[in-house]
Amino acid sequence: MLPTPNLDHLTADDYEHVYEPAEDTFLFLDALEKEAEFIKNRVKPTICLEIGWVAFLIIKQSLDHRRSGSGCVSTFLAQLIGAGHAYINPYASSITYKTGMKNNVLLDPITTDLMSGLLPRLNHNVDIICFNPPYVVTQPGDVNSPNMLERAWAGGIDGREVIDRTLPLIAESLSSNGVCYLLSVTDNKPNEIRQIMLHEHGLSSEVVLSRLTGIEKPSILKFWREPLI
Ligand SMILES: C[S@@+](CC[C@H](N)C(=O)[O-])C[C@H]1O[C@@H](n2cnc3c(N)ncnc32)[C@H](O)[C@@H]1O
Repeated sequence: MLPTPNLDHLTADDYEHVYEPAEDTFLFLDALEKEAEFIKNRVKPTICLEIGWVAFLIIKQSLDHRRSGSGCVSTFLAQLIGAGHAYINPYASSITYKTGMKNNVLLDPITTDLMSGLLPRLNHNVDIICFNPPYVVTQPGDVNSPNMLERAWAGGIDGREVIDRTLPLIAESLSSNGVCYLLSVTDNKPNEIRQIMLHEHGLSSEVVLSRLTGIEKPSILKFWREPLI
């Protein structure tokens, strides 16, 4: 069993600016651990991408570069797969980089909105995509709140505004052998997400892990293109 990445270097001040790992983060780590053999032996990933540490528009990088996440999931994935893989991560957070270094893995953060700065170069080339998105149901448009911490969790209508923008990008970027892990909660209508991925993008899916956490029931959905070798 892999230990949770060491986050001792993060301070209370950091968490004023980035999303503090919570139950959803840890459910994600548990799902990746459950998938470890499959990822290592079947997917054999070269390019792994985690969406959701910082990102947004590059033009805002100088203002927002520390906001959003701690590097916990990417660090865990890097440790799980082992050294020597190319890492492309769409967040410019120095915290993500530091979390990798603290845990002896080299992460390569990129600041972009979702994965827009990486496409079309990465079309059908990404082997693993992880995304713990902003999923909480809020007022429409809250996903663009000027408060960056709010943007880390505010998902707009059905908590789906960011998720829905991501679905076609996942389909576009997954390699033939690739898999995507996406967290969603009951409010996000995960079955509807799975139907969209199947009927609009031809991706099969299953629930890897779900857990009741307070009033929410987050699940980790897994998507892949048939036939998975
Ligand atoms: C629920 S938090 C998860 C943070 C971290 N990955 C974790 O699991 O602890 C959602 C993350 O998505 C990021 N995010 C929101 N909108 C985004 C966008 N358009 N592009 C990239 N990341 C975005 C937020 O900044 C936030 O870090």
